[in-house]
Amino acid sequence: MDKKKIAWCITGSGHYLKESIELLLTLENVDLYLSKAGEEVLKWYNYDLSIFKKKKIKIFKDITSSSAPVSLLYESVYKLIVISPATSNTIALMAQGISTNLVTNMFAQAGKCEVHSLVFACDTEPVVITQAPKKLVTLYPRDIDLKNYKTLKKFKNVTVVDNVKALKMSLKKLNK
Ligand SMILES: Cc1cc2nc3c(=O)[nH]c(=O)nc-3n(C[C@H](O)[C@H](O)[C@H](O)COP(=O)(O)O)c2cc1C
Repeated sequence: MDKKKIAWCITGSGHYLKESIELLLTLENVDLYLSKAGEEVLKWYNYDLSIFKKKKIKIFKDITSSSAPVSLLYESVYKLIVISPATSNTIALMAQGISTNLVTNMFAQAGKCEVHSLVFACDTEPVVITQAPKKLVTLYPRDIDLKNYKTLKKFKNVTVVDNVKALKMSLKKLNK
């Protein structure tokens, strides 16, 4: 049996946060990585880290400048990186090859280690209805957001999805 794990990264997005958490909690072989905004946004949506701790999921927060946990990629601990949900900020950084925090460093180092990444992008359509903490809101992603999404889709060893069904199907295929 393959003992390698999945590194699931949550960024500061309310869009599809609930669906991402529900899916990650079904997994047995997963560690959780949080961007600083991801950690904050969990609180905005009333999630407590205890839901992950109860399932013995290891949690890595963004507390080092060098993104120290990326060294686990060099030790072949992970077979897959999932970034779900991914903010437009994280998509922009990844698409431009910029790694300035824990999640974007995990993505960049995964690429350099030839470990596959699965990214659930939120801003993929000109009009998006999203879950704010207290209500649904309509947003109009900018051209630059859509351009970054399209750029990322062309990356080698990266699968970018834009809906929950595709996320589940890709995860099933890649979690082998
Ligand atoms: C309640 C709340 C919900 C948010 N939801 C989104 C979102 O759905 N998509 C997005 O791109 N940014 C969203 N943001 C903004 C990001 O958290 C912000 O751009 C942050 O700097 C992203 O950092 P990260 O990409 O490192 O996680 C939200 C912010 C708040 C306070």
